[in-house]
Amino acid sequence: MTDRYLMCAPDHFDVSYVINPWMQGNVAASCNDLAWRQWDALADAISGVASVERLSGEAGVPDMVFTANAGLVLQNIVVLSHFRHAERQPEEAHFEKWFSEHGFRVVRLAPHLAFEGAGDALLDRGQDLLWMGHGHRTSVECAPELAGLLDIEVEPLRLVDERFYHLDTCLCPLEGGYLMYYPQAFDEASRARIAARVPAARRIEVAEADALDFACNAVNSGRHVFLNRASGELAHALAARGFTLRQMPLGEFMKAGGAAKCLTLKLNELRRLKVRTAA
Ligand code: ARG
Repeated sequence: MTDRYLMCAPDHFDVSYVINPWMQGNVAASCNDLAWRQWDALADAISGVASVERLSGEAGVPDMVFTANAGLVLQNIVVLSHFRHAERQPEEAHFEKWFSEHGFRVVRLAPHLAFEGAGDALLDRGQDLLWMGHGHRTSVECAPELAGLLDIEVEPLRLVDERFYHLDTCLCPLEGGYLMYYPQAFDEASRARIAARVPAARRIEVAEADALDFACNAVNSGRHVFLNRASGELAHALAARGFTLRQMPLGEFMKAGGAAKCLTLKLNELRRLKVRTAA
């Protein structure tokens, strides 16, 4: 099946406020022309292996380009995001409109909870499991709510480094049940939970330099992986596991704290069959 991704054009992309450390010192410092070229290159590359649905940006919401934060999709349901920061909350209505017009059933969590969609909630690619990041943006109380709403097991992971404020900046489930992640972004208990859920042979640990290059913020469709930049060591680790890597510079978006994965939302998220392994 061909994967489908939602991307929002950077018509109104800019760094206009500071809500994460990457934006510090970058207000009004991004170049819209270059952002467009980088975005087009990513959209074209993904279109080579999957289909891309494009949505126009809206004035006044410069971060809307990061569609990963629109919501969490599972089958035809989308759990709409409710952003922690007031600056991004006006995006919610725009994304809700798009989802309703495109056949999704839109559901919401309790209004007092912050939830930042597929930026913090990532489906594992080897088991019926949802990884959920908390500590910066998404409220920890979202975990039982998502579990009940979607009838899926949720593994909460505590993020402890403010540079990695969304789960998708430091962890990426890959086809075949692999998990690429930067361990130091998590507290010790969360690292232990990852190790308990994913066998060592399926874990791809990323070094700090790669993490800071947003290597974990990767788009994975089948055997294809698209990301900003990877060291020779990481590129080798991915190739050894059968992945074809495309490195695409996304520096203008990194000034806002996002890269490849943040710029996309996978729309065809199907349920995995619950497979029980013998004890
Ligand atoms: N400036 C945006 C924010 O801080 C960047 C969002 C990046 N998205 C992501 N899924 N990590 O909210």
